[in-house]
Amino acid sequence: MTSRPVRDLFATFGGEPGGPVPGTATLHDFGHDIAKGLPVNTYTGISDCYDLLMSSGYYDHDAMAHAAAAVIGERRQSVLELGVGTGMFVESLVKASPEFEITGVDFTPEMLDIAEKRIGDDAALIEADVTSMDLDRTFDAAISSGGVWVVIRDEGDVMLGTHMYDYDDELQGLQNVNRHLVPDGLLLLSIQDMHRDFSRELEDSIVYSQSVSRADDPVDEHFTIEKEYRFTRGEEVIAEQTLHLGFYRRGLMDEMLDLADFEQDGIDESGQFYVCRKAPVVESG
Ligand SMILES: C[S@@+](CC[C@H](N)C(=O)[O-])C[C@H]1O[C@@H](n2cnc3c(N)ncnc32)[C@H](O)[C@@H]1O
Repeated sequence: MTSRPVRDLFATFGGEPGGPVPGTATLHDFGHDIAKGLPVNTYTGISDCYDLLMSSGYYDHDAMAHAAAAVIGERRQSVLELGVGTGMFVESLVKASPEFEITGVDFTPEMLDIAEKRIGDDAALIEADVTSMDLDRTFDAAISSGGVWVVIRDEGDVMLGTHMYDYDDELQGLQNVNRHLVPDGLLLLSIQDMHRDFSRELEDSIVYSQSVSRADDPVDEHFTIEKEYRFTRGEEVIAEQTLHLGFYRRGLMDEMLDLADFEQDGIDESGQFYVCRKAPVVESG
């Protein structure tokens, strides 16, 4: 269904899916040794079914878009969505704030094909990895709404959830986003609960189920989960995908945002977004 070339997704990490995973690591070398054998988290396997799940109420895109528009405000116009997926959040954002000039990036071509049909007239869509994108411009605000990053409620505090498995890629991604923001530009990350097992009947006798298992990680501050998405009709598996998602508890989240030159404003009034701000450049001397 896609007209875009299929890329060698594993070449990036120099490994094979399910390839050898070294058993011991310190936090420092965690990213270097363990993550490199894992596949990149594209949504290729479930792109065709993704909207069935989303339109069943998985996210309330309209409420999230209104909250994001309120934070961004009228003063800011250009918005970059990180992990635009099939474009459902952007569709709501356009309704909430028609004056926004929106760009969406995503590295799953099949998701972008669907987004193109949905919001191609309202947003610029770019196939890119946030760790390496170079869009040659800056934005007033960047948003990840259930996208590349989220913020997870964690026993009265929060932690950073991410599609990037590797500490270095994580930092590089955040630094790259910072580089694409104007001075004082905003980064909004949607807030959600931790991923958990559940299933739900969708239309056309299709059942969606997700199961989550925690990887056997050497350190708790940065742990990972495997999340399996599966769409079935009766005995038939229609679509499935396994993602390897990373989580950074508060100390490391603070460290990363700090290293990527973000200040943290915290949770917005609606409770739906965690708001960061590009830190001012400190003049030396
Ligand atoms: C949950 S989905 C999209 C959610 C979408 N914002 C929405 O509201 O429907 C997350 C998306 O992030 C994309 N993604 C994950 N890691 C990425 C990366 N490093 N660079 C670009 N896109 C990425 C995936 O391809 C996927 O389409």
